[in-house]
Amino acid sequence: MNPLIATAQALMAPGKGLLAMDESIGTCNRRFAELAIAPTEEARRRYRQLLVTAPGLAEFVSGAILFDETLQQNSDDGRSFIEVLSTAGILVGIKLDRGAKALAGHPDERVTEGLDGLRERLQRYAAQGVRFAKWRAVLSIDSGLPSRACIQVNAHALARYAALCQEAGLVPIVEPEVLMAGGHALARCSEVTAEVLHQVFEQLHQQGVVLESMILKPNMLLSGEDCATPVSLDEVAEATLSCLRRSVPAAVAGIAFLSGGQPAELATARLNAMHLHKSALVAPAAALPWPLTFSFGRALQQPALAAWAGDDGNRVIAQTALLHRARCNAAALRGTYRPALETAGALA
Ligand code: 13P
Repeated sequence: MNPLIATAQALMAPGKGLLAMDESIGTCNRRFAELAIAPTEEARRRYRQLLVTAPGLAEFVSGAILFDETLQQNSDDGRSFIEVLSTAGILVGIKLDRGAKALAGHPDERVTEGLDGLRERLQRYAAQGVRFAKWRAVLSIDSGLPSRACIQVNAHALARYAALCQEAGLVPIVEPEVLMAGGHALARCSEVTAEVLHQVFEQLHQQGVVLESMILKPNMLLSGEDCATPVSLDEVAEATLSCLRRSVPAAVAGIAFLSGGQPAELATARLNAMHLHKSALVAPAAALPWPLTFSFGRALQQPALAAWAGDDGNRVIAQTALLHRARCNAAALRGTYRPALETAGALA
């Protein structure tokens, strides 16, 4: 089999998902600051070490997305984190974008940068053993937003990044994130996400990206975080699956959701609802053309980070918290997650 397709399929292995632990230095430090953890390179190394050495993580996680700093660091025993993960059977990925910057002429909108020199960076990462990559575009919903320009420039950049990844032998994860911020209804998120996905796949097509060798990392379809109307698990599952079925070609290797700031347990419950979903309009996830999984950052890590709190004396409870979330999310992929599993020890 084509090695890129084999990597994409290994990332989408049944019952497993991805651990996004690729926060930039600034984002990681912000999360540390909320817990009064010192924002040092060594603290970030010790925290990431705790994540990648969690015993048995590979049972639930097929790949981990790292930030460049982590990729260059070693664990206490002198092995690189790439070696630690590879030995555990977890594929190593890298965040390649250099962040979302203000879009000229479009107040409150951003375009993701990082294409300059990307071919050379990809060659270095490929030589280090990195097998896949991620690039995140962000789109905000507001009155009149996102603009057509913002959607187009981000879709174009995502496709340029994806084509370069495939040229270098890495599987691209294409992440167009429609943000949860705002008071919009679920229907508005559906409309915007559908438009964004159509434009992204148009650009991927125009630029010759091989769909079998890429993974889409979308947002779930949700109402805005300030919206007063609650949405049920079934509404989220229905809206998300129908939008994806209408917008994502069947050849795509898989879909791995971001969590986007949802509470960890709710993100799991929604993923589970998608795997249980049955309706006249939308087939259950099992009948979809692509596998669905998680590629969560906060919804996997936040309880572990809070448990660690900067103190390696808490390493074991932090790893237990990470493994618990990973196990719950793996259960969601079978449609067997239920809130009772959150009770301490229920899944141990
Ligand atoms: P969240 O799951 O916290 O949204 O992070 C996923 C991610 O990779 C963001 O780019």
